[in-house]
Amino acid sequence: MLKSELDTPSLILDLELFEKNLIVMRDFALAAGKKLRPHAKTHKCPEIAKRQLEAGNCQGVCAAKLSEAECLAEAGIQNILITSPIAAPWKIKRIGALNHKISGLQIVVDHPDQVRQLAEQGTPEKPVHVLIDLDSEMHRTGVQPSEVLSLGKKIAGFPALILDGIQCYAGHLQHIYSYEERARESTRIMRAGAEIFNQLKKEIPTCRIYTGAGTGTSPADVLIPELTDIQVGSYCMMDAEYLGVEHGGPSYPPALRMISSVISANHPGLATIDAGTKSIYVTPEAPPMVVKDNEILKDFVYDWNFGDEHGRLTYPEEKTMNPGDRVELIVSHCDPTVNLFDELWIVKGNTVVDCWKISLRGCCR
Ligand SMILES: Cc1ncc(COP(=O)(O)O)c(C=O)c1O
Repeated sequence: MLKSELDTPSLILDLELFEKNLIVMRDFALAAGKKLRPHAKTHKCPEIAKRQLEAGNCQGVCAAKLSEAECLAEAGIQNILITSPIAAPWKIKRIGALNHKISGLQIVVDHPDQVRQLAEQGTPEKPVHVLIDLDSEMHRTGVQPSEVLSLGKKIAGFPALILDGIQCYAGHLQHIYSYEERARESTRIMRAGAEIFNQLKKEIPTCRIYTGAGTGTSPADVLIPELTDIQVGSYCMMDAEYLGVEHGGPSYPPALRMISSVISANHPGLATIDAGTKSIYVTPEAPPMVVKDNEILKDFVYDWNFGDEHGRLTYPEEKTMNPGDRVELIVSHCDPTVNLFDELWIVKGNTVVDCWKISLRGCCR
């Protein structure tokens, strides 16, 4: 099938760019002496997680939620770190079941109650492996630095739990425009985490992992000697948010695109396309970019003013668009946009070569 025969709107993944991104990130991490732990929250696609693992130098993969981890496990993937704490008792029981199903399950904790409940899900033969989530000053999840040691000692007191290390993810820094500023802030926060990690390691010898970092801060974060692995997600697909900020290391071309069609164009310099808020997650500060032959068309502007089903394109009046014309867009934010679709069409040039299921779609529990 040709790309031009796909129904619209559809998400496509350029296989060559995607594979290049995997290799570039793998080699970047290798050169820095770090492992990768790619985050599946970005792509929600087991086939991509498998290819990331196959590309090599991976410690495992990350899942944001228990249901994502369960779906990855269903697809045969092991060594999954759940990067958000879990509070509901019925979910903690499911952690116990998942821990028996796969090898290498890990979960972050940030409260003594979770620790106590998780301890009931493990046994000394099959313990639950946990990491302490350290607040990166974002205040989303995580314990304060002063509380890490006492939580660590609590965990070490349960024979059915193993403390593997700490996680520190500074999500609020990833899209700071200036790389210099982003790197400065991230280095300060990740260094503070490293000091805590060193103290914890002295007290609790099972503690061997210091994980964190996203695509935006990874070039600075890999310079922290204690950091063992990086949880990068967006690099494999990329989006307008990330393309809009300065790179500090390798660049990752946007492998993910949306194809959309013009459905009406009865006013000069204005066309209505079939992708609105139900197809492209709204990120006002980074609107989708229109591309043709891998070039960003700076004089074509997308906005969401036509609502749920429709997008508005404005462009110089001397240019024309007609109903049926196709438009390729770099989406604003890849993670929540991918979550709006069931499948990714895999393209090589103009040919559709495969279709990968976005099986983790809707796994937000
Ligand atoms: C805990 C955690 N780790 C890693 C990532 C991946 O970050 P990025 O997509 O910026 O590479 C995210 C993304 O939100 C995250 O929440």
